[in-house]
Amino acid sequence: MKRFKKIFLLIISAAVIYSLVPVVTLYFMKEPAPYMNEKTAEKLSHNKGDYFGFIVFGDCHSGFMFNDSATLKLIRQIDREDRFKKLPIDFVVVAGDATFRGSEWEHRIYNKTRSLIKWPILTAMGNHDDDDDKGETTKYFKKYIGAKELSFANRGSYFIIIDNAAGDISEECFSAIEEELKKSLAYKHRFIIAHKSPMSPYQQSWYRPELSPWSYRFMKLCERYKVDIVFCGHEHMFKESVFGGVKYITSGGGGMITQIPKRDGGFLHYLVVRVYGDYVDYEARKVSPPLWEYLIYYMWKDAFYLIKDAIF
Ligand SMILES: [Fe+2]
Repeated sequence: MKRFKKIFLLIISAAVIYSLVPVVTLYFMKEPAPYMNEKTAEKLSHNKGDYFGFIVFGDCHSGFMFNDSATLKLIRQIDREDRFKKLPIDFVVVAGDATFRGSEWEHRIYNKTRSLIKWPILTAMGNHDDDDDKGETTKYFKKYIGAKELSFANRGSYFIIIDNAAGDISEECFSAIEEELKKSLAYKHRFIIAHKSPMSPYQQSWYRPELSPWSYRFMKLCERYKVDIVFCGHEHMFKESVFGGVKYITSGGGGMITQIPKRDGGFLHYLVVRVYGDYVDYEARKVSPPLWEYLIYYMWKDAFYLIKDAIF
């Protein structure tokens, strides 16, 4: 029995060490040249046809080992998305909170992490991407990621990335978004990527943007211009809601630790969106956490909710 225990412990220890290898390798990796949003948008504008896919995830919060390790696990699966050779994946978009606290070091880690994704990448601004010092760290976003707001066309669809990290949309930004939405009417589909959802995806959380005036106005705008999907992050979970015929998908499971119960959407994941002429659908791909994270956190989180559900 003792021997069996020893062998079991040895196997688990080896598997834990193996699950740590990608993140340790990441920190020693040579840093690539920064990758600008504008460059990706320009590249995509040359794509032809109307059958394509793109990938969305949010809140990888790079620069914290726990998050980086989980994001690398996501990326390993993302890079295999074209294995059936059915759907051309055109790009990946990150719905904000790319970094843990917005420091330069975290932006550099994010720069390395995203370089492992084999498709062009666009990144929206999240509230944690300029967390430490608003004036100071926004410059790192510009240096490592580029424009905070941009629009681009890709194969008959129009994409608008907005910056609502501050939790509000100014009068000027509302006008700019509406101008972009007017342009988007020439396309079959329109998609918006914003870090913060205008409606809290999870009623049991503290996040309640619907008490701010921008929320309703933004949703009415999306409804008027028949936006297909608004992709958001911020809440570290997966949730889909429909308001006024517009889908709002929160996809904030890109690496950051999630405290929300798994049954309510608190799991690591990314989305694969498929556009086929007039039709759009998507799948949320759940990703298991790296073993070391499972053993020190996720296993206990699941056990906690299991016990809580049994008692209350
Ligand atoms: Fe976040």
